[in-house]
Amino acid sequence: MAMTRDALLNQKGGVAKTTTTLHLGGTLAAAGRRTLLVDLDGQGNLTTALKLPRLNPAGELTLARAVLEGCDRAGAQSLVRRHSENLWVIPSALDLFTLPRQLHSARSKEERLSWVLEHLEDGFDHCLVDCRPALDVDTDNVLRWAHDILIPVDVDEFSIEALELLLGQVQTLVRETRMAPPRYRGLVINRVARPFSGFHQAVYDALHRLPLPVVGEIPLRTAVAEAKNQGQTLAQYARTADVARMFRDLAVKAGYLPEAPAA
Ligand SMILES: Nc1ncnc2c1ncn2[C@@H]1O[C@H](COP(=O)(O)OP(=O)(O)OP(=O)(O)O)[C@@H](O)[C@H]1O
Ligand SMILES: [Mg+2]
Repeated sequence: MAMTRDALLNQKGGVAKTTTTLHLGGTLAAAGRRTLLVDLDGQGNLTTALKLPRLNPAGELTLARAVLEGCDRAGAQSLVRRHSENLWVIPSALDLFTLPRQLHSARSKEERLSWVLEHLEDGFDHCLVDCRPALDVDTDNVLRWAHDILIPVDVDEFSIEALELLLGQVQTLVRETRMAPPRYRGLVINRVARPFSGFHQAVYDALHRLPLPVVGEIPLRTAVAEAKNQGQTLAQYARTADVARMFRDLAVKAGYLPEAPAA
C-alpha cells in the first residue's frame, strides 16, 4: 500500500486541526498502521501535545532548513522522532516561523516540501500534515504534496466563509500550477457542544449542505485536554471513551480504515 498523503488544513484558527491530526494519527497507529505526523506550525502545538522536544535550528537539521536547502534521504529520516508504537513525528522548530518569508524568494517555491517528504514514502502507511492557520506559500507546498485534504471545521459564524476561501485557494493553485486536483476526504466538525443555539444549528445545517461530505463529528470533551497533559493520544489515554470511538469512526468514514466487522 502506498503511503497516504494528507493535509489537515483550514486557515481558520482554533478549529482543532492539531487535535484532529493527533488523535486520527493515534487511531491509525493503534490499528497497526505506521503513521507519520508532520508539525508544520512554528507554534509547535502538535509537538508539545506529544511531549516531544522541538528540533533545534542551531544544532540539527530542521524541516524548514530541509525545505529551503534540500536534503537527501538520510537527512529526511533524521527529522523523524518516534513517539510510541507505530507513531512517528517530524517535530516543529522555531525556524518554521520564517519559512514562508524565505520561501517567497526560493526557486520552485511550492515544490520544496514534496522533495523532502518524498524521501519518506517507503517508511510509513500514512502521513498527516498539521498545517498552521494560514493560506500561504507553506500551505501551498502541502497542497502540492498532498493527495487528500481533510478539513477540520468548527460550528462558528465564520466557518462557511473560511471554507469558501480555502476551496477557492485550492482551485487557484490547481489552475495556476496545473497540478492534479487533490481529493477531499471531507469535513470533520470539531468541538461540538450540544444543545445548539438557533444560530449554531443554522451553521451546522449549512456545513451539511456544502458539497463536501461530513466524515466526522467530535464533541467537546475534557479527555482531549487530559490526553494532552499526559503527552498521549486518545487511543492511548482513553481508548474506551466516546470521543476515542468518534475518532475511530472518522478514520473509517474518511476512508483510512476498513469498516470493523460486525461483532
Ligand atoms: N473535542 C475537543 N474537546 C475539548 N477541547 C478540544 C477539542 N478539540 C480541540 N480542543 C481544544 O481546542 C483548542 C484548539 O484546538 P487545536 O489547537 O487543535 O486547533 P488548531 O486548529 O490546530 O489551532 P491553530 O489554528 O492555532 O493551529 C486546543 O486547546 C484543544 O485542546
Ligand atoms: Mg494547530
